[in-house]
Amino acid sequence: MKTVVVSNRKGGSAKTTTAVNLATELAKKHSVLLIDFDTQGHASIGVGCEPSELRGAHSIFLGQNLSESFIPTVHKNLTLAPALEFFDVYEYADLRGVLKNRFKREHIADFFDYCIIDTPPTFDAMLKNSLEVADAVVIPFVPHHLGVVAVNQMFRAILQSANSFNQKIAEIGILPVMFNPHINEHKESLKKVETLFGSSKLFTPIGVDIKLSKMFEFGSPIVLNEKRSKGMKDYKLFTTELLKRLS
Ligand SMILES: Nc1ncnc2c1ncn2[C@@H]1O[C@H](COP(=O)(O)OP(=O)(O)OP(=O)(O)O)[C@@H](O)[C@H]1O
Ligand SMILES: [Mg+2]
Repeated sequence: MKTVVVSNRKGGSAKTTTAVNLATELAKKHSVLLIDFDTQGHASIGVGCEPSELRGAHSIFLGQNLSESFIPTVHKNLTLAPALEFFDVYEYADLRGVLKNRFKREHIADFFDYCIIDTPPTFDAMLKNSLEVADAVVIPFVPHHLGVVAVNQMFRAILQSANSFNQKIAEIGILPVMFNPHINEHKESLKKVETLFGSSKLFTPIGVDIKLSKMFEFGSPIVLNEKRSKGMKDYKLFTTELLKRLS
């Protein structure tokens, strides 16, 4: 099983949109687990479900198994570990290594080809637990100055996490989102990221497509029901590029 963490501490940078589209695109051919680690529960909504008040992915921090939270989605090969809506991470002390431990004890890797984790826009136990199991981290970012700053901060968080646990550094990819080639700041920010991290780290950008917002209303990603949309094509290409990097 390959685990892909979609992360950026900056809010509203299309983490959930990316996680949901990637998971459903992969589920066309593979068995996929989507972990909604953001208590907002937007990834759960994106695949036609709801965040749970009783049992969700965050329940692992309360001593439950991850697999106890699994529910099927409208997509055949896509299983969801929904968000636990009112989980307050700050009520708990040291929560490191919990997800890694669950993966191992519950043999999660035997059941899925891919695991996609949507994380909250904070540097907390959910992000740290996710980084500990990541084969790859995708950082979606909106190409403007603070977007570039946020990518830099995510890189440092990933390196810090790998160093403090003596772990291999995950494959890191940067995905420009909501990109408009006619806006100078977008082009300049892309160049900056290329200079800072190298062009090999960059995926082909995702353009602006309002249908990507609409998909949450319908509980089904654009990749399945909007045959001719730009967003669909962009996320398809992104998935292909990511699979190449993971192989
Ligand atoms: N390519 C796009 N074109 C147009 N709108 C987009 C695109 N990508 C994302 N959006 C919209 O931007 C908003 C933020 O996206 P999303 O919720 O995926 O970000 P996020 O990083 O998960 O946010 P949060 O930090 O709150 O978890 C949403 O309303 C989403 O529908
Ligand atoms: Mg989100």
